[in-house]
Amino acid sequence: MGAAGLSTITAHRADRRSRLSQQEKGCVGLLKRTCSYVCVASVGFLFLLGVCLLYLPDPLTLAPSFTEDNSEVTLLIWTHPFGRYRKLPDCFELYQIGGCTLTDEGSAYPQADAVIIHHRDVATGTADLPPEPRPRAQKWIWMNYESPTHTPRLWRFEDVFNLTMTYRTDSDIFLPYGYLVPRERGTKGVQNRFAQPLRASSRSHLLRPRLLAWVISNWSESHARVSIYNQLRRYVQVDVFGRSGRPLPEDSGGSSVVRLVGRYQFYLALENSQHTDYITEKLWNAVQAGAVPVVLGPSRRNYERFLPPEAFIHVDDFSTVRGLARYLLMLRRNPARLRRHLDWRGSYRLYQPSFWADHYCAACRAVRRTRGKTDVVKDLTRWFHS
Ligand SMILES: *[C@@H]1O[C@H](CO)[C@@H](O)[C@H](O)[C@H]1NC(C)=O
Ligand SMILES: *[C@@H]1O[C@H](CO)[C@@H](O)[C@H](O)[C@H]1NC(C)=O
Repeated sequence: MGAAGLSTITAHRADRRSRLSQQEKGCVGLLKRTCSYVCVASVGFLFLLGVCLLYLPDPLTLAPSFTEDNSEVTLLIWTHPFGRYRKLPDCFELYQIGGCTLTDEGSAYPQADAVIIHHRDVATGTADLPPEPRPRAQKWIWMNYESPTHTPRLWRFEDVFNLTMTYRTDSDIFLPYGYLVPRERGTKGVQNRFAQPLRASSRSHLLRPRLLAWVISNWSESHARVSIYNQLRRYVQVDVFGRSGRPLPEDSGGSSVVRLVGRYQFYLALENSQHTDYITEKLWNAVQAGAVPVVLGPSRRNYERFLPPEAFIHVDDFSTVRGLARYLLMLRRNPARLRRHLDWRGSYRLYQPSFWADHYCAACRAVRRTRGKTDVVKDLTRWFHS
């Protein structure tokens, strides 16, 4: 798997699928051989399987690629997502991706090689789609980081877009909320400059003063996460922060949340809705803070594509919330067991792409790679809900 095109964006979903399954087949083949030669214990088997499936296909979209041509790409940012203005990045300065002209000026439309369209802004009517007919060869990129539950009016956008850019691994341009980079691999280049080394488990990880925290901004009784919380608090102390709980520290940016969570042994990383690959910064903030995440989201198997099996505790691991609570209390009394959930950290760095600079630069590169090809996003609704 190590050689599997670390730095490439596959701009073709089909292509990505076939490459993924090749990787998986490769793994299975290797396993079969391994097992028939030396019938290794199941531990070894699981380890290999883990190594094969652990890492994502290739989210390292921003690592420099020296074979890349730097021909000019003009990328029009149709709206600043959610109407919040951000200065556009210089992709060369940040990632040594040359030739990208990013602009938010509508007047560049006729010359733009591609237009990035953020779903929420066109779905709610804050902005219209660009005018048709579109310039020949121009690509429209559908960008969305909300889950299907919070992605309204998708049906309106069938047969409109050319490329997708989301947190889903099978997007044309795949950039998740965060991902791990094995340490031995990321010794050079951009990933190393930006990816945070995770500290291996230490006394301070094992002996934290507080048990369990939860930061929640959108409290809704209809969310599964609220029901989990309501049950959990009958058995253990849960410190709740955010609009519905204690106030967050003043400058409640990502880093202050990480500092807060760093005082806790465990963190509730409960997604607002449960969908394929929908794993947000809630998980990665906990990882960065060295708190063991207790997750609710897609299946355990889905999480295991993003991080080692022992790196998180899944709500589904227990038939009752009471069982989960007991497990957390047991770990607290038993540092040797807790250590198993933390020891993996020493082998990884964490990369959390920054919104939206990384997205624009990854898109620029994808547009160049797919130049001259016709791409059409079919069945957007069905795909995104699958
Ligand atoms: C909060 O949750 C409700 C219920 O799911 C949803 O309708 C609403 O869009 C959410 N608000 C935000 C800001 O995500
Ligand atoms: C982009 O998508 C539109 C709508 O499906 C299609 O008509 C057009 O040919 C596509 N263009 C390219 C360059 O892929």
